Amino acid sequence: MMIDKLLHRKEDGRIRDRDLVCRCMGVRAGQVRACIRQGNTTLEALEAKLGVMSACGFCEYKIRRVLEEELAQTVNS
Ligand code: FES
Repeated sequence: MMIDKLLHRKEDGRIRDRDLVCRCMGVRAGQVRACIRQGNTTLEALEAKLGVMSACGFCEYKIRRVLEEELAQTVNS
C-alpha cells in the first residue's frame, strides 16, 4: 500500500498518466508513455528524448516501471 502511494499507482497497479514521474524535468507518466509509443523503448532513448533521469536520477525506478508496464501491455495486446 505504501509503495503504491510512493509510485503513484492506481488501484490496478499502474502509475497514472497525470502523475509527475520526473520532478527535475517536469515530466508526467503520460508523456513517457507517449514517447514509448513513438518507438523510444529503452531507458537511454527516453532520457535522450525527455531528459528524464538526466539530473538527480532519482526517477529511474519510476521511468523503468512505466516502460515495463507499457511494453507488457504491448506484448499482451
Ligand atoms: S527526478 Fe528525474 S532527474 Fe531528478
